[in-house]
Amino acid sequence: MDYKSVPTRGRTLDYAAGVYDVLEPWVMFGKQNHINQQVVDFLDIKQWHRILDIGCGTGVVTKLISGKLSSKKQGMAIGIDAAGKMIEGAVKKRESDTCSFKVAAAEKLPFENESFDSAVSTLFFHHIQLDLKKKAFAEAFRILKPGGRLVVSDMHIPETILGFLIAHASRWLLFQPQIGENIRGVLPEVIENAGFVKPRLIKTYLGYITLFLSEKPMDRMMDNKS
Ligand SMILES: C[S@@+](CC[C@H](N)C(=O)[O-])C[C@H]1O[C@@H](n2cnc3c(N)ncnc32)[C@H](O)[C@@H]1O
Repeated sequence: MDYKSVPTRGRTLDYAAGVYDVLEPWVMFGKQNHINQQVVDFLDIKQWHRILDIGCGTGVVTKLISGKLSSKKQGMAIGIDAAGKMIEGAVKKRESDTCSFKVAAAEKLPFENESFDSAVSTLFFHHIQLDLKKKAFAEAFRILKPGGRLVVSDMHIPETILGFLIAHASRWLLFQPQIGENIRGVLPEVIENAGFVKPRLIKTYLGYITLFLSEKPMDRMMDNKS
């Protein structure tokens, strides 16, 4: 199977795929499981749901979601990432009858309009610049069914001194202006401008990672089915 990365201006992590699962819990000060579990709880999953994990990396969250789905009821969690090596690792470690992965860019999703019950994204949006953030949320909006939930957990305006230090150090040490956008607080407006209901800021972790909950309004049908 060929897991060729797709072109994107986002910061992909092919180079880190082999060590990501080992490093991530350290970077998250051991809070990763707790945060991921809460993210999944907010999806309000039903066994028959089709759920998209955007910028899934090695598929940890996708796998958590898939555990709540039933293949007999056509439930499926699908993770996408632009980095081929991330998806290769995800397939090897986590693919199952309710969990699949695909190499794809968030700003150009290879899925039909209104084909998912909900969408989730964790620690992804600080990897893409503002114009791609807008496109990626527009794509999430397009593929969601009316009423479909959107759960995003990502870097946002720091609320504590520790959060401020981690967020600003990451922005400058990693030379990542996309992080700068997040910590200036662009996400809620970009989400709303894509057509979603004004996002609720549910919780902040480690002082700089915020959990947002929103949904596609019931009355927003897509005109053209692709
Ligand atoms: C920090 S990782 C987060 C992975 C996972 N969601 C998690 O919580 O551990 C960010 C991921 O975004 C991916 N990425 C960057 N630009 C992308 C794009 N335009 N479309 C899809 N994925 C992208 C990277 O390859 C990387 O795997």
